[in-house]
This record gives sequence, C-alpha cells and structure tokens, in this order.
Amino acid sequence: MITVCVTNQKGGEGKTTTSINLSEGLARRGMKTILLDIDPQGNSSGIYVNVESLEKSMQDIFKRKLKLIDILLPTKTENLFLAPANIKLAEMESLNSGDVETPYILKDSMEDLEGFDFCIIDCPPSLSVFTINALAASNYVLIPLQAEKFSVDGIAGLQQTITKIKKRIHPGLEIIGALVTQLKQHTILTKTIIPVLDKYFKVFDTTISDGVAIGESHLAKCSIYEYNGKSRQAKEYESFIEEFLNELKK
Ligand SMILES: Nc1ncnc2c1ncn2[C@@H]1O[C@H](COP(=O)(O)OP(=O)(O)OP(=O)(O)O)[C@@H](O)[C@H]1O
Ligand SMILES: [Mg+2]
Repeated sequence: MITVCVTNQKGGEGKTTTSINLSEGLARRGMKTILLDIDPQGNSSGIYVNVESLEKSMQDIFKRKLKLIDILLPTKTENLFLAPANIKLAEMESLNSGDVETPYILKDSMEDLEGFDFCIIDCPPSLSVFTINALAASNYVLIPLQAEKFSVDGIAGLQQTITKIKKRIHPGLEIIGALVTQLKQHTILTKTIIPVLDKYFKVFDTTISDGVAIGESHLAKCSIYEYNGKSRQAKEYESFIEEFLNELKK
C-alpha cells in the first residue's frame, strides 16, 4: 500500500478537496483506496457520513482501542473506504505527548491492513500530533497550496518540518510534489510564485483552477467527477492523477 499525506500547515489551501478527489479518482481507476481523515474538523468525512453519529472513528485509533481495519467504512464509490474523524478527535491532541511511541500510533494501527493499494491522509492545518502521525505513517507527502504570497511564506517552515521528521522519525519519507490549487488565472503572481516554489520541491505541471463547481460538489456531498465530470476542475484533477501516478513510477 502506498500512503500519501496531504498536508500544509496553512488553512484553506485545498488539502480536503485534493484528498477527496485524489482518493475518488484512484478508486474509480480500480485501485482499492482508503481516505483517512485525521482532521478533527471532519471535512472529508462529512462528504460520506454524518460525522455527529460515528460509532467508530479515528479517536479510537489514538486511544489505541482499535486498528485501522476496524473503523473503515465502505462508501458509495466502489473501492473507496473511509477512516472517519470528527471533533472528538481533538480530545486526543495532547493526551499522549511525552510517550516515545506517540508518533507511531497511526503507523502501528495500519500494520495488519492487506489488499489496499492507496491510503490518502487528509491532515489538519497545524503541526499537531495528528500531522506528525500522518507523516510518520506515509511514503509520500503531497502539498496543496495556492499561488499566493502568504502561502509561499509558509513553505520554508513546512520544508523544515518535513526535514525534521525525516531526521528523527521517518528517513524514508519523500515529497512527491506541490499541487497549485484555486488558481484564479495565470497572472503575474503565478508567474512569479511558481518558479519560487520550484526551488523547494517538484511542482506538478497540472494546476487546479478556481471555480464554483468545487464548492458546489462539497455541498452536494460528492466528488467533482460525480458532481460535474465535464467541469474544468474535474478534468484538471484527472490530469493531476495521471501525473501523480507517473511520478510514482519514476
Ligand atoms: N479549485 C477550487 N476552486 C474553488 N474553491 C475551492 C477550490 N479548492 C478548494 N476550494 C474551496 O476552498 C476552501 C478550502 O478548501 P479545502 O477545505 O479543500 O482546504 P483545506 O486545506 O482542507 O482547509 P483546512 O485547512 O481548513 O482543512 C473550501 O471552501 C473549498 O470549497
Ligand atoms: Mg481540510
């Protein structure tokens, strides 16, 4: 199984939108995929389930009561399974700090999983115990971000975090690349910012443009492909997935 941590400490950069549409796209290609929500906001879970009435959730993983396989829910999309989270996960934020095993709780819970091709982790917008666990359990990091000054300002910090995780916790962790999301148009800003990003890590050639179809698909509680497969953003996410799969082959 290939595990990908979709992360950025900055809020609203497109982590959840990218996690949902990457997972859905992989599942639609016949790959057995887990969408793992490790954000107490429960945004990606809310697309599939009523987050207020979860019997089992990511909180049970951090309580070390259950393994990941025990909390997986099937979704209406064939091959796509959800590891759901809700606000209760926030209770676990400080509970285990100080224990040397804390960064590995998620990784340990995944040990007996078999037959899955991908696990895509939707991270919260902070460097919490949850993000550290997600990074420790992943093969790759995918960074969604907007081509804006404040987004780029946070990049050096994000890169330092990943370097620290590699050094202390998980030497094999690799950055697969950055995906520019919510692109308004190819403005001077974009032309200036993409070359700056390029200095830090691979930037995917595909960019995701800003469009109402994305917000509408969240409201309709489905992927962009199901909401409007002909929309520009559906085509862009499809093309990103092709690029993503090619990158994995390298
Ligand atoms: N390509 C897009 N076009 C238009 N709106 C978008 C696009 N991508 C994301 N959005 C909107 O931007 C907002 C933030 O997106 P999203 O929730 O995916 O970001 P996030 O990084 O997960 O946020 P958080 O840090 O709060 O978890 C949402 O309202 C979403 O609908
Ligand atoms: Mg989110």
